[in-house]
Amino acid sequence: MQLQDKILKLKKEKDVVILAHNYQVPDVQDIADFVGDSLGLARQAAKTPHKTILFCGVHFMAETAAIISPQKKVLIPDLDAGCSLSDSITVDDLKEWKKQHPDAITVGYVNTTAGIKAELDYCCTSSNAVNVVKAIPEDKEILFLPDMFLGSYVSKLTGRKNMYIWAGECHVHAGIKPEDVQKKLDSMTNAEFIIHPECSCTTPYLYDIATGSYNGRQVQILSTEGMMNHVKKSSANQFVVATETGILYRMRKQNPEKTFVPASEKAECQYMKMISLQKVYDSLVEDKYQVKVPKKTADKARLAIERMLAIS
Ligand code: 13P
Ligand code: SF4
Repeated sequence: MQLQDKILKLKKEKDVVILAHNYQVPDVQDIADFVGDSLGLARQAAKTPHKTILFCGVHFMAETAAIISPQKKVLIPDLDAGCSLSDSITVDDLKEWKKQHPDAITVGYVNTTAGIKAELDYCCTSSNAVNVVKAIPEDKEILFLPDMFLGSYVSKLTGRKNMYIWAGECHVHAGIKPEDVQKKLDSMTNAEFIIHPECSCTTPYLYDIATGSYNGRQVQILSTEGMMNHVKKSSANQFVVATETGILYRMRKQNPEKTFVPASEKAECQYMKMISLQKVYDSLVEDKYQVKVPKKTADKARLAIERMLAIS
């Protein structure tokens, strides 16, 4: 029996749902019950009737699932699948920052550890960060963390002046440079340009981008699932995609008549790529590795996540 078939049989027998992020390798996406962005995966984790969630993504995503569904077993096939962005702030950093702004509301990206989430008022993802900030009364200071590019984008779009932004970044998205993008755009004059808000390539054009153009070209800033929805309904046939390259597999599979080109071929997240089909199989067979969050931390973190889930 092929590995894929063994996995499908085993997950049925053991009542497991497999959730996979859009950046996972093609083989893993193909055996998942649901492929999506951070928000979509968190929503699936909250509503799944299955006893066990096997999370094919990075550690903070599996932790989020464990926090939302404390009665479920959450497994990740490789415990070393981390995230440079979530590593860019520690709980002590955040406590110190909060001390300096005692009345501020803290808004943290979902790409953070459970310990950080327990210190937040609101959690957000790239698909609802703007709406989360809009939901906070205008006279309240906001501490936004940890992604500075997402933070700058949100502050431009909302016009919020009293928002402080942590200087964190994702090494994959920060590595997509304006020069890479320009080269691709020059070679594909009819292509639409779609960007993940963690990208640094937008910085020189941030004002334009917030209002929908990049060097005079139509541009869309979207979460990974927002990108999937957009390319499907857009009348354009060609797209330059500025995010981790794993998403191109699903884009091409769902839209075989359209052309997708990465803004940078180097934009690969080595953490996302740690999950392989073999590790998924081993994880199912041996029930490893279970992601557990201490109850006290989970109970506090859940409040911020539930506020996020309530805002789309
Ligand atoms: P999305 O929520 O857009 O899927 O982003 C998650 C992530 O880690 C981006 O690098
Ligand atoms: Fe983290 Fe960046 Fe990888 Fe996303 S792409 S999981 S933000 S390191």
